[in-house]
Amino acid sequence: MDTTSAPKVILAGGTGFLGRRLQRVYAAAGYDVVVLTRQPEKVAAPARGVAWDPARFTEWTKELEGAAAVVNLAGKNVDCRYTKASRTEILKSRINSVRALAEAVRRCAVPPAVWVQAGSLAVYGDAGPLWCDETAPIGEGFASEVCQKWEAAFFKAPMPPVRRVMLRIGFVLGNEGGALPVLARLAKWFAGAAAGNGRQWVSWIHAHDMDRIFLRCVQDPAMTGTFNACTAGAVTNAELMAELRTIYRRPSVPGLPAWMVKAAAWLMGSDASLALTGRRGLPGRLMEAGFRFDYPALGPALDELLLGPRLPVTVPDRMAALPAR
Ligand SMILES: NC(=O)c1ccc[n+]([C@@H]2O[C@H](COP(=O)([O-])OP(=O)(O)OC[C@H]3O[C@@H](n4cnc5c(N)ncnc54)[C@H](OP(=O)(O)O)[C@@H]3O)[C@@H](O)[C@H]2O)c1
Repeated sequence: MDTTSAPKVILAGGTGFLGRRLQRVYAAAGYDVVVLTRQPEKVAAPARGVAWDPARFTEWTKELEGAAAVVNLAGKNVDCRYTKASRTEILKSRINSVRALAEAVRRCAVPPAVWVQAGSLAVYGDAGPLWCDETAPIGEGFASEVCQKWEAAFFKAPMPPVRRVMLRIGFVLGNEGGALPVLARLAKWFAGAAAGNGRQWVSWIHAHDMDRIFLRCVQDPAMTGTFNACTAGAVTNAELMAELRTIYRRPSVPGLPAWMVKAAAWLMGSDASLALTGRRGLPGRLMEAGFRFDYPALGPALDELLLGPRLPVTVPDRMAALPAR
């Protein structure tokens, strides 16, 4: 397809789990996709990689001129040991990318129509059983504080009129990244135990529905402000692990005490808080906007991802399919 006259979507940090999917999604919807990345050689057609360093205002800033949308996914992956250095980088990579994009938008004669910014449901902290729609109280702790500063940098950046959408993203279920492949492997190896007391809530969303939300945010001018991006079908960590064991027909295993989760997380180069804390998200504003999830329930979402699309349950009516004589 000739994309030279097609509306442009700028994907900042678009080489990761969500970004690689969105390159395909926006290209298939007819957009010219430009990925702002530290590794442009990793980007393949139909998308185009453009080198960026949020600390330097070089050629990349010109890409935003007249663009249909900016979608910012940049940020150090939070699945790491929370050392002082990695905490600093988790925060800095998010704030600096937002500030750099805001400055680039200010330099545009024709600014992008919309900016869709990735955020996280972790903003609600470790919220126990409280349902968290967008009006729920903001939480405490490192992850929540990062999210609060991330959101403030986005909403408070002085900019010409640009529609701003903040997506507070839940646990995205996909095969090409995120935590699902790791948890599925554990379940397959008879090690699919609940973490700690297993009562922490997991607010999940199928990657396919996440793609649809990102596309809708670009295309629907009514989408503005903050949206929780998760289904209304949050489950506890124990329920999630039980569902994974059921998929692989594995027996029940005792829960892993918190101290063992901490040791295992450290050995795996991760942080135990990712497994031991949670929140019960509710996509209040997406529901008000009439968004319908293709995967509202966990069982079918995991089935599709881990076992593949199922054959139709009903036998097609062969006679009805025959051409009329
Ligand atoms: N996946 C989820 O379940 C989930 C849940 C909640 C929130 N989110 C948020 O959604 C966004 C995208 O998620 P994802 O899963 O696609 O993340 P990802 O796979 O880790 O990709 C993030 C991208 O950010 C860029 N990046 C990494 N470290 C950076 C640094 N130090 N400085 C500047 N850029 C850096 C990288 O792009 P380059 O290497 O190309 O520069 C990378 O491709 C992230 O901000 C994440 O926090 C994701």
